[in-house]
Amino acid sequence: MNVNFLGKQLKSPTVLASGILGNSFDILERVHGAGCGIVTMKSIGPAPRDGHNNPTVIDLGHGLINAVGLPTPGYRDMDEEWKALEKRAFPLNASIYGGSVSEFVEVAKFVAEKNPDFIELNISCPNSEKHGMLFGTNPTSSFDVVSAVKRVTGSIPVIPKLTPQALSIGEIAKACEDAGADALCAINTAGPGMLIDIESRKPILAYKKGGLSGPMIRPIAVRCVYEICQQTTLPVIGLGGVTTGRDAVEMIMAGATLVGVGSAVKSRGIDVFSTITRELAQWLDDHGATLEEIRGAAHG
Ligand SMILES: Cc1cc2nc3c(=O)[nH]c(=O)nc-3n(C[C@H](O)[C@H](O)[C@H](O)COP(=O)(O)O)c2cc1C
Repeated sequence: MNVNFLGKQLKSPTVLASGILGNSFDILERVHGAGCGIVTMKSIGPAPRDGHNNPTVIDLGHGLINAVGLPTPGYRDMDEEWKALEKRAFPLNASIYGGSVSEFVEVAKFVAEKNPDFIELNISCPNSEKHGMLFGTNPTSSFDVVSAVKRVTGSIPVIPKLTPQALSIGEIAKACEDAGADALCAINTAGPGMLIDIESRKPILAYKKGGLSGPMIRPIAVRCVYEICQQTTLPVIGLGGVTTGRDAVEMIMAGATLVGVGSAVKSRGIDVFSTITRELAQWLDDHGATLEEIRGAAHG
């Protein structure tokens, strides 16, 4: 099912979400081989970071709660990965983060030289300049980071990834559009939430709280994509709980151009990309519909 996205021809409207399968060439290539349209890397930060202690991911059956804590070797220490990725024959989305606008710019500048097809900005991380507030919960800081990154990334499309923790995600989307974003990705994990082990009377995650993902957050993601598409005309990667072709149809009807898949890789395996694409194509066929026709159909 060919789809055009920001001038690139993709073999499927599915996208691997950031942080699900790491950054090794072999795994990312396998994901593309398994039918994924765009492969997103795990978020790359400015400096080495260990992430949080275990346990970091708990499977709740209807989704995951995680507090992985953005572990990264730092952009300078990924020579092996970048060297292998140079030879790739698949669309690559490099996800980056920073704790300040200047850190985002520093990482973006370096990563842009590696020539990924897209750069995703994880603006769902704490902004150290603003007392730990998430960049993506404030229209001004979202605008600042996107416009600064756009100045150093040349012709590589920039895709801010938005958080459902924003009071008005539509307003954040508009700020990103005004700053020159080429597309948007929504959503990052929801929450945060907490689980308590009632026997030991303690939070289960070592970090105590964590982000929710998987089927339980799908209605939040659909609402966010719907609101973003009310406020902007940018193409959107709709992400959050998509597990089946029907879920993809719903996300596209909310206005998404592509559908991201994260937790479902864990529940349905790596073939989930071709499975979702096949189920989506079957649904369109059964309803005599096209992707273009159903996109944003729930509006109006
Ligand atoms: C274990 C785990 C690690 C993640 N790491 C990242 C990350 O490094 N950067 C990022 O932008 N999102 C990260 N995410 C969020 C996912 O990319 C995605 O936005 C979220 O899981 C919602 O999609 P899903 O319901 O399909 O999983 C992570 C999610 C999980 C479950």
